[in-house]
Amino acid sequence: MGALRDEIKKLREDFIKGTLTDAAAKADPFEQFELWLAQAVEAKIPEVQAVNLATVSKEGKPASRIVYVREFENHQFFIYTNYNSRKAKEMLENPHVSLTFFWPELERQIRMEGIAKKADKERSDNYFSHRPRESQIGAWASNQSGVLKNRDELEASVENIRRRFEGKDIVRPEFWGGFEITVNYYEFWQGRKSRLHDRISYTLEKDKWAIKRLAP
Ligand SMILES: Cc1cc2nc3c(=O)[nH]c(=O)nc-3n(C[C@H](O)[C@H](O)[C@H](O)COP(=O)(O)O)c2cc1C
Repeated sequence: MGALRDEIKKLREDFIKGTLTDAAAKADPFEQFELWLAQAVEAKIPEVQAVNLATVSKEGKPASRIVYVREFENHQFFIYTNYNSRKAKEMLENPHVSLTFFWPELERQIRMEGIAKKADKERSDNYFSHRPRESQIGAWASNQSGVLKNRDELEASVENIRRRFEGKDIVRPEFWGGFEITVNYYEFWQGRKSRLHDRISYTLEKDKWAIKRLAP
């Protein structure tokens, strides 16, 4: 264990893969996001659409977990989940959320902050109808964030749902769907040598994006 702790303490990466100059940063952060996402896809980064979603309960207690961003357009990012889950309850109580992407192969991090609300039913129906059947069954069968007695209880629930929909299309459960997150703050981080990283932030001020360089 001592060796493991020493190993972790000693791990040091110098970041040398790129720069983010003021001149290169786009005026619109959504365009900057799309550019970096395209480069991340091109670089074949695994789980490129995985993002850390942080929520805060009405008591002010934060929690975070990884989810997939499935759709994005015009500063809106869509994620899909169970509306009874902890994250969903927290977003419905307190819509302020943050999203963080980390793409280590490009030495890049993107942070976003915004406001979450339930997506339109039509969007959720459409997304659900395109999911693989097994995922549709899983959405019905799992009372996400609830406590299970054991694994068998989950598997019995899956079997139940499978029988219930045998030979039929699976409709979206009311308790499952999308959240639309409208982003009003972005920060693009490019790792640089000796921890002197580039950080460019965009804040929505009176309908205009104010661009600032932050100290690393
Ligand atoms: C790579 C990855 C992708 C995930 N994608 C989703 C997702 O899109 N939606 C979702 O509800 N949970 C997703 N999860 C599971 C969540 O991290 C989490 O365990 C679950 O949503 C319950 O969180 P909650 O109890 O805070 O609501 C994903 C987990 C990982 C590791």
